[in-house]
This record gives sequence, C-alpha cells and structure tokens, in this order.
Amino acid sequence: MVDLRSFLDQVRQDRPQDIVTVKRCVNPNYETTAILAKFEQSYRLPIFYFEDVEGCSFPLVTNVCGSLSRLALALGVTVAELSQRYENGCKNPIKPKVIDSAAVQDEVVVDEDVDLGVLPKLIYHEKDCDKPYITAAIVVAVDPETGKSNLSFHRLMIAGRNRTGIYMAAGKHLDGIYQKYVAKNQAMPIAAFIGVHPILSLGGVYTGSTDVEEYDIIGGLQGEALRVVECVKNKGLFVPADAEFVLEGIVRPNERIEEGPFGEFTGYATGTMQTPVLEVHTITNRKDPIFQDIASGHSEHLVLPILGMEYSIKKVAQSASPSIKNVKIVAPLTIVVSIEKSDDAAPRKIIEALCKSDIYTKHVTIVDADVNVSDARQVNCAVALNVQPDQDVFVFKDLQGTPLDPSCRGESGITSKLGIDATAPLVGKRKIERNTIAKQLLDKIDMSEFLDNKDS
Ligand SMILES: Cc1cc2nc3c(=O)[nH]c(=O)nc-3n(C[C@H](O)[C@H](O)[C@H](O)COP(=O)(O)O)c2cc1C
Repeated sequence: MVDLRSFLDQVRQDRPQDIVTVKRCVNPNYETTAILAKFEQSYRLPIFYFEDVEGCSFPLVTNVCGSLSRLALALGVTVAELSQRYENGCKNPIKPKVIDSAAVQDEVVVDEDVDLGVLPKLIYHEKDCDKPYITAAIVVAVDPETGKSNLSFHRLMIAGRNRTGIYMAAGKHLDGIYQKYVAKNQAMPIAAFIGVHPILSLGGVYTGSTDVEEYDIIGGLQGEALRVVECVKNKGLFVPADAEFVLEGIVRPNERIEEGPFGEFTGYATGTMQTPVLEVHTITNRKDPIFQDIASGHSEHLVLPILGMEYSIKKVAQSASPSIKNVKIVAPLTIVVSIEKSDDAAPRKIIEALCKSDIYTKHVTIVDADVNVSDARQVNCAVALNVQPDQDVFVFKDLQGTPLDPSCRGESGITSKLGIDATAPLVGKRKIERNTIAKQLLDKIDMSEFLDNKDS
C-alpha cells in the first residue's frame, strides 16, 4: 500500500538513520522547527516523528520529503535516476480507481462538531503571526467548466473553530478555478488532504498543463491506479483513500481575512495579505491518525517542488528551442539552463518563454552544454566571460511573479524578470574560441611514462 505509514516503515527498515523518533513532549510553537533547523545546520535532514505534541492527541511527522535521497527511495531509484523516473511517470499517466469505503473516512465529524483546534498549533518562525498554520495540505478542486480536478499545496492559517485563511497564488491553477466560481458568484468546494506517501506529495507539486490531472500523474509515478474515495459532503470531489486527514469545505466568493506574516520558501517573511477563507464543514481521518507537517522555508519545502518544476521548465524551454541539455533550479526563482546551441537567437527565445510561463521563474541564465549547471563557479565564469551586459542581458517588465518575492511591491506579484545569455557567441565579431587541445594528441599521451620516469 502506498501511504504515509508504509513509507515511514520503509525508512525505519531500510534507512534507520533517516528517521528520528522524539518521545518527549515538544511544543509545536517554534520548538519542532527549531529542532529540525538545528539538524539542518549540521547538514542532517532526517524525518522527525514527534510522538508527544503539546495540546494535540496524535503524533506529528515532519520533513518526510526533506532530501532527494528519500524521494529516490520512495520512487525506487537512485538520486541520479530521479529526473528520468519522474519524467517516465508523467508520460504514462494512470486514472485513479474509485473505491466505496476508505480508511481516511474511518472517523468523521461534521458541521458544529468540527474543531480545527484539535490539530497541532504549529508556528514556525519569530516573525510569523500568532496563528497556527497547516502547511502540508494538498488541495483538490474541480474546474466547473472542464470537470477536471486539480491538486496543489496551499498554506492554511487556522483562524477559528472551522475557518482558515487559504493562500492561492495568482497565475496558478487553483486560483484560476476559484476565479471561475467567483464569476458565477458561487462558493468553491474543496478538500484538503494531509498525511500522504511522497509520491502523492510529488503529484501535489506537478506544475504541468491543466489537460493532465495530477491524480493520473500519481498513478503513473506509482505504476498503478491511486485509490480514491468520494468526499463525505463535497460530492463530486475525490480524495486519496489512504491519506491521514481530509478537511472538506467551501471557499466563498467574497470573503477575505488578514493572513500572515508568514516565513516562506524564499527564507523571508511575507507581509500580511487579504486571502480568501476556507470554511471547513467536515473533518475525516484514519484511526490513530498521524499529522504531517512541512516546516516552511526549510529543506522539504525547497526539495519537494524541484522534480515537478524542473520537468515543466524543461518542457517550456524545449518548446522554445529543441537544444536543451540540462535545467537546474539553483535558488528560489532562479534557473540555469544549458543548451547545445546552434543558433545565437535561441537563448533569448528560451529566456522569454520561461519568464512568461511561470510565476516562480524570475531569473534565467543560459549557458553552453559544456557548463555544469549545478556548479556555481562554472556558471559565474560563463556569465563573467561570455556576457556583454548591453547585448546579452534581457529585462521583461510587468510580468506575473509571486508576491512571496519580497522585492515585489504590493500583493499582485507583478514584477520585472531578468535573463542572461551566458553562452559563447557562434558567429560575428564577438565569436569566442575556447582553449582546446587536439584529441589525437591527448589520446597518445600515456601518463605512466612521466610518473615512472624519475628524470622527467
Ligand atoms: C510545502 C508547499 C507549500 C506550498 N504552499 C502554497 C500556497 O500556500 N499557495 C500556493 O499557491 N502554492 C503553494 N505551493 C506551491 C504549489 O503547490 C505549486 O506551485 C503547485 O505546483 C501549483 O499547482 P498548479 O500547477 O496545478 O497550479 C506550495 C508548495 C509546497 C511544496
């Protein structure tokens, strides 16, 4: 079975050093994140399983997808094979299988009995507001026009017994679906599921087109149909049968709440925003549930989206030019792409396509195929030595970015974006010739001749 519990068991068995079980009582206000941060400072990224959380009657698990090696374990491959494995899963989607009764609905509370106060009151950073957050909720909603479902992660700020703020980035699919409900002046039904196997989390960060449903991608990644069950009250919405928790509710068209400040993946706290409100009318969960958390701005928050985003970035870049070799997200909003260049116009085309395609792409550098996109020194050398700033630097104004970028002023997230063509020019006056040594000469040289010869 592909669920959170089976993955934790797999880690306990195959990688016991990758999971730390904390038996003593911990405070979800700052302390759980501080413990994780202390380990991160020593470059250790284990899962933390907190058995006893103050004010909460069930265990808390965090950092499940906090390293590429754990994602590789979840997908049954090596770290080097991860991208290819992810791509294969996305290219072979499998529709989910609907079942009638599911573990995630073993316990159900509705309406007046709903109380979000039973969940752990997680506060992460000193600059955060004093309201607890749910960070590992994957939201499912159905597009009222196409009937297709969409999955994505959304931070939920607990603001009362049955209310949360919900941040839906402009330019992303859930906000697009919400705007369709707003146009009809109708509430949007959603379900937020929490506590899943890493493969489902990878589905939650899939950023491809809305033609493909994330449940099908999850099926493709796990090699068999995902088992889903219809929601208790939100009929027509389906949730993973083996998740730990589901919050069912509605987001009304006009209601807003002050949300934040909240420390984000960028490493900076956002200011306050006016976000829509999720009104929760149903909570379902497994027996003896485990609550899952993702410490905002820490390793899991940065590692988890990489495969999905690099896959989509590569597809967009390839549609602008077929010469793409490698793609790497090297820092928040910052992408390096290497290309086998056969046309001096290609880098600008790729930069423009990428800057216009996604809100989380703000700074794009294109390098030649012989530059290692993961090596900051090689990339910086290419920028220093191939770039004439007046010719090779491109700025695109007034594009949709993210308001989580602290340099964006205002809540709209409108920003300018930067592209640098750091490839060597192929033609014209500035054509650059690299230092080379004839291959035949190199091949002829036998190093042992010099190592054995004491006189040389
Ligand atoms: C831990 C985590 C938290 C996230 N929180 C939010 C959020 O609060 N709001 C949001 O719009 N996107 C958030 N995201 C990003 C979306 O999940 C991601 O962009 C997703 O791929 C969007 O899906 P879409 O392409 O179907 O729109 C978060 C991602 C992660 C990994």
